[in-house]
Amino acid sequence: MVTGSAREVGLGYAFARQLAAEGLNLILVDVLDEELTSRVTELRTEFGVDVRAVPCDMADTNAIEQIEQAAGGVDIDVLVCNHMFTPADTPEILDMPLEMHRRMIDINARGYTDLIHRFGNRMRARGRGSIIIVSSGVGLTSSPFTGAYGANKAFQIGLGEALWFELLGTGVDVLVMVGGLMNTQGDMFDSYPQWLISEPHAVVRRVFKAVGRKHMLVPSLPNRLFLLAQTRLMSRRRAVVSIGRFQAKGLGKSD
Ligand SMILES: NC(=O)c1ccc[n+]([C@@H]2O[C@H](COP(=O)([O-])OP(=O)(O)OC[C@H]3O[C@@H](n4cnc5c(N)ncnc54)[C@H](OP(=O)(O)O)[C@@H]3O)[C@@H](O)[C@H]2O)c1
Repeated sequence: MVTGSAREVGLGYAFARQLAAEGLNLILVDVLDEELTSRVTELRTEFGVDVRAVPCDMADTNAIEQIEQAAGGVDIDVLVCNHMFTPADTPEILDMPLEMHRRMIDINARGYTDLIHRFGNRMRARGRGSIIIVSSGVGLTSSPFTGAYGANKAFQIGLGEALWFELLGTGVDVLVMVGGLMNTQGDMFDSYPQWLISEPHAVVRRVFKAVGRKHMLVPSLPNRLFLLAQTRLMSRRRAVVSIGRFQAKGLGKSD
């Protein structure tokens, strides 16, 4: 099961394609109904696997029931929590409407918790399964101008690392992916240093190699170095200031 897998250029679809190439049947979850239908057709045609689509809004507290119903009792061996929502115009924390903050928490924090709780419990009962939690480097460092997103991503990291430890020896693997910039957002990252941007298919290959071996993966070397500097070499305060400036430049917020 891969959530947030409807966009052709997105990381979720890259996960889905590599799983389908291995012959796994899939359940794709996303809010984008039409795109989801196209991805399902592509995967069925190219790889001959069984693919089910669950168009739903993860902000909805009933989404987990919709997903469960669509799964129809099928055992989920691999759960990739990948969907995310953040407003494209990157408002500052106090400028973003409270309703938007709440929606983000529902999608990015509660949505991940619902999926992990429901399917993680089944995996533990079977003694088998893998859970991949797609978070971001901004969850480790904080991120002015995408502050709510960074806070949501920090939630995912905290939940995922603890889950990894609690499930040791149960047969269920947990991997927290701490992603850096990836080529999934059109020209949105054009003002960032291009050496920091990874290709989603390469990221997915590294993630699958790390499942069962690592508890956390930063899938690209440039991002590992970037995070090393931010989290180990600088004080926390200095790191926030440096990322704030980096983000201001990258997102065109500088004066
Ligand atoms: N791209 C990067 O540089 C980067 C860096 C670090 C980490 N990540 C993480 O990697 C993952 C994938 O990123 P991406 O860039 O490939 O993302 P994406 O394709 O923009 O988003 C993932 C999918 O989730 C869908 N979605 C949004 N709100 C939803 C909702 N309420 N219910 C269900 N689905 C919803 C999106 O639909 P819409 O397009 O309609 O929103 C989209 O199809 C995310 O968790 C992201 O935080 C990405």
